Amino acid sequence: MPKLGVEQLDLAGQRVFLRVDFNVPLKDGRVSDDTRIVAALSTVQHCLKAGAAVVLASHLGRPKGKPDPASSLRPVAERLGELLGQPVPLAPDCVGPETEALARALGPGQVLLLENLRFHAEEEANDEAFARGLAALAGVYVNDAFAAAHRAHASIEAITRFLSPAAAGLLMSRELAALGRIFEQPQRPVIALLGGAKVSDKLPLVQSLLDRVDGLLLGGGMAFTFLASLGHGVGRSLLEPHRIEAARAALDHARARGVKVRLPVDVVAARGVGSREGIRTVGIREIPADLMGLDIGPATVLQFSEALKGAATVVWNGPMGVFEQEPFAAGTVQVGRAVVGCGAFSVIGGGDTIAAAQAAGVTGKIGYISTAGGAFLEFLEGRVLPGVAALNDAP
Ligand code: 3PG
Repeated sequence: MPKLGVEQLDLAGQRVFLRVDFNVPLKDGRVSDDTRIVAALSTVQHCLKAGAAVVLASHLGRPKGKPDPASSLRPVAERLGELLGQPVPLAPDCVGPETEALARALGPGQVLLLENLRFHAEEEANDEAFARGLAALAGVYVNDAFAAAHRAHASIEAITRFLSPAAAGLLMSRELAALGRIFEQPQRPVIALLGGAKVSDKLPLVQSLLDRVDGLLLGGGMAFTFLASLGHGVGRSLLEPHRIEAARAALDHARARGVKVRLPVDVVAARGVGSREGIRTVGIREIPADLMGLDIGPATVLQFSEALKGAATVVWNGPMGVFEQEPFAAGTVQVGRAVVGCGAFSVIGGGDTIAAAQAAGVTGKIGYISTAGGAFLEFLEGRVLPGVAALNDAP
């Protein structure tokens, strides 16, 4: 069901509570990657141009429900001010009389950034009284924080009980449209390329994708539990023994549904992460007992690339190996190039995957890069995101 969009609201003279995800990395007191701030700019500018005052709210890090200077949004206020070309004052708190007075004093076209929502434990507890305090700051609610939409927190969920309308920001709408393209009447075949270390993190995703995709390519550390479920010895590679049965069940399910699953046929193995000792490419049946697979091998790259050539839509999450280390980067880099080279509409999400795409030099050619990590995975798992469900439906 499409959601009410901020562009459908008459914002002139209104005060907007704009929930954004400014959970960005900091280094030496400055924002070291402003991607999420830049991504939300269009919504902020839209509201300001429409004659609204904007009260911005975000979490940053996990400060455990109490103030922590290291998680202050001050560096974000500074960066946002530079990007907007106007001052972005930082309120001393996100609720309370002082913050209310600052919000009330805002004129059309002015912005106020609230201090970190997670300085109050009530935020993550989805507390109603706290949500009421946030709602008191504005007359309209807009959520542009797709990356936090999987959290049923006060500024995301409970607040919509006290502030209406509750509309999607432009970034939220862009994310929902792009990710929706994967599942709602996608161009077929749809191929999912999954990697990453932990199979336990990815099994729910594999299971739900099996009902939606035509092909599944599995690499990274997670692949070894699948290989073990087929009886392969994996040496000292990452293995989650208690997931072997679930991995096997997923492969059976794939076969029953006619989804073609490809697993590595060779790997680059070494004695350990950070070690070049014993490094060699081995077939999947020949992983020595004292080595661990740290990247997919060239034969696997070839097979995955061939499979991708047939795709019309590609979803990619997770690197194929320990790509941060040069001897184990080739698999991720080459498969990344195959993703953009195949001409399919491609979608990626998650910090690791974006870093992998950067290492492959392909970010400029990806169809859509989600700003979300956890929310991206939950969306792909087919779960209802509380932050999306809470928004009004489009008229
Ligand atoms: C994210 O970075 O994925 C979101 O901001 C959510 O952060 P959280 O996992 O700390 O809730």
